Amino acid sequence: MKSNINIIRQPIPKRSKEEINSLVIDLMTKMTLKEKIGQMYQTGHEGTEVTGPQFDASKTVKNVKDGIVGSIIGLLNNEVIYSLQKTAVEESRLGIPLMFCNDIIHGCKTAFPHNLAMSSSFNPDVVYDCASVSAYESSHSGVNVVFSPMLDIVRDPRWGRVVESNGEDPYLSSVLAKAYVEGYQGDLTSYDKVAACVKHYVGYGATLAGREYNTVDFSRRQLFQYYLKPFEAGINADVKMVMTSFNVFEDVPVTANKYLLRDVLRDKLGFEGVVISDYTSSMEIMNHKIAKNAKEVAKKCVIAGLDHEMIYTSYIDHLEELVLNKEVDEKLIDEACYRVLYLKYELGLFDNPYKNIYFNQEDYWLTDESKTKALNAAIESCVLLKNDNKALPLNETEKIAFIGPMVKTQEVVGPWGGKADFHDCISLAMALDQEQHSYLYAEGSKIHENNQELIDEAILTAKQADKIVLALGEHQHMSGEANARADIRIPEAQVKLLDEISKLGKPIVLLLFTGRPLDLTNIVNKVDSILNVWFLGTMSGHAIEKLIYGKENPNGKLTMSFPYTVGQVPVFYNTLNTGRPYDGVTFYTSHYLDIPNHPLYPFGYGLSYSNFEYSNLTIENKVVKKDDIIKVSVDVFNNSNVAGKEIVELYIEAQSFSVARPVLEFKDFKKIHFDAYEKKTIEFELDSNALSYYNIDMIDTVEEGLYNIFVGPSSNKLLKDVIEYKL
Ligand code: BGC
Repeated sequence: MKSNINIIRQPIPKRSKEEINSLVIDLMTKMTLKEKIGQMYQTGHEGTEVTGPQFDASKTVKNVKDGIVGSIIGLLNNEVIYSLQKTAVEESRLGIPLMFCNDIIHGCKTAFPHNLAMSSSFNPDVVYDCASVSAYESSHSGVNVVFSPMLDIVRDPRWGRVVESNGEDPYLSSVLAKAYVEGYQGDLTSYDKVAACVKHYVGYGATLAGREYNTVDFSRRQLFQYYLKPFEAGINADVKMVMTSFNVFEDVPVTANKYLLRDVLRDKLGFEGVVISDYTSSMEIMNHKIAKNAKEVAKKCVIAGLDHEMIYTSYIDHLEELVLNKEVDEKLIDEACYRVLYLKYELGLFDNPYKNIYFNQEDYWLTDESKTKALNAAIESCVLLKNDNKALPLNETEKIAFIGPMVKTQEVVGPWGGKADFHDCISLAMALDQEQHSYLYAEGSKIHENNQELIDEAILTAKQADKIVLALGEHQHMSGEANARADIRIPEAQVKLLDEISKLGKPIVLLLFTGRPLDLTNIVNKVDSILNVWFLGTMSGHAIEKLIYGKENPNGKLTMSFPYTVGQVPVFYNTLNTGRPYDGVTFYTSHYLDIPNHPLYPFGYGLSYSNFEYSNLTIENKVVKKDDIIKVSVDVFNNSNVAGKEIVELYIEAQSFSVARPVLEFKDFKKIHFDAYEKKTIEFELDSNALSYYNIDMIDTVEEGLYNIFVGPSSNKLLKDVIEYKL
């Protein structure tokens, strides 16, 4: 073990709000205006990943010495972090420590499944484990704040960043938001915790046509009812930072949007922490054409309520002059600086600036406990989409050919992998070998190209097998930031392989590697089973091996619809009814000529090796008032000899309201274990306030009337009853 620079983990005092308040105020009396503005600046250094315009890293050390840097983005090298922190503490006039922030979003060194995958677990404990392992590993890698969770509601799988999200539903995303924030933060004075940052505030997921950084356009009702909900949950869980998004809202870029940053975020949601821009999103207001130069950028953003500017330098370059010229009230600088310093106190950085800096950080990475949690997360994230003729699970006595570019790949981290190294990931082939399966193998195709030789070899191999497992999909970096795709099918080269193999007429299992819902129309009928294995991170191969051999039973469900074809996009479960809902026959109703209205696989859908049967939906109190608890129960029977977990889903629909409401609104769920042939009565206690919606006067309320209550295994398979809400 190398020597440790975090010499003493002296306990960090737990201070009251009042105590921190007076410490910060006291410190600020000693600060010059320039130094206060410095706290509002986040810069990068050598090693920071650039996701936009380059910045000048050569100035970082000097700026730190001059006391005009508040935080640093994107470093994971503890020696560099140490040296910058030492410069700040020992060489700047007031010795104010820096705060180090990083994009740790689904694991630091131990890679968990990507976030969309993990949301499919419908299990806040899985998400909590991911966040707490990430906090542990990153808090030993020099990181004080992680830029996570990403809470964008997403409805368009062409957008590459759906991979970072919790899918299309605001309720589920809110539940998971809380789990992320609690897992990261807990007690911030602890040496194993980090502050979290919810992003991207707000509406980025509504990007038109799924094109990255594109315009969004939705109503205030949609804002409050959908896009804001998960942020509200994150703020209620005491998240410390909020990142503004790149997009506009009502044609005003969020980073300079006073209504969103002050009226909504501060006044309505009560957020007291730090508002940070996204990477150069302040500068980009010039491209949005609402500022002509950097000085206007600084003025508009600070007035709008942006505390901390990421990468761009309009604040440190212009705010001082703007204040001196009385164009910006110094009070705004004081407020922003105060919030940044307050967070640094909360994190204990004034007590121990070297708090999270270790030279032996490897000792904290990839522990057995972390890997066990990552394996569990990987198992719970997979979704069985199709299983005709019980092609899965595989049987040891069958001769199986594993074919495809994803069988041997270790590149299964997915985008924003933190410090994860794909060489630490277990490929499917590695897991098969470790478990001593005998199997046939052929690569069959590269991700984007193949040749006759590869295909011929795959066919020869497949001919010798009883069953073929095809491991196909996107490359791990075909989703993520700036990775929008207009064609969301499996790359053509691999489809060609599948077509050739399917001609053999043997059972085919497809293992689907992806960062987004894909358009599977051209292949779905050519395979018997589809197990969606996303990108599962470090323990990928082990999780897949256990699931396909029936050592584990798939128990994830989709949180984002798989479109029937891309022409349907955006397609999502909580859609409005329209004035002419399709009844299956009438022509002048809302439908397509060539495809169904519903997605191929909807929100909440996922199969199991067990066979869960639902019956006897019962509601104890059918007339309810404000604050009543609606008692709902349903019988679920595992009519199979396989034990498994089932996600039981509860939805509502308002039969009437002052504004049009969705045909379904997801409100609650339970994930329950069943033994073979076990029957259980599952009970829900739904607060009647959960029936609320932003009404015609934009008041979040429950109106008198009838409400349908649905329970079932998927948004497209539900039992229904009805209750009445009385004022
Ligand atoms: C992304 C953010 C990220 C930031 C810092 C941006 O390009 O949109 O999600 O946190 O970069 O790396």
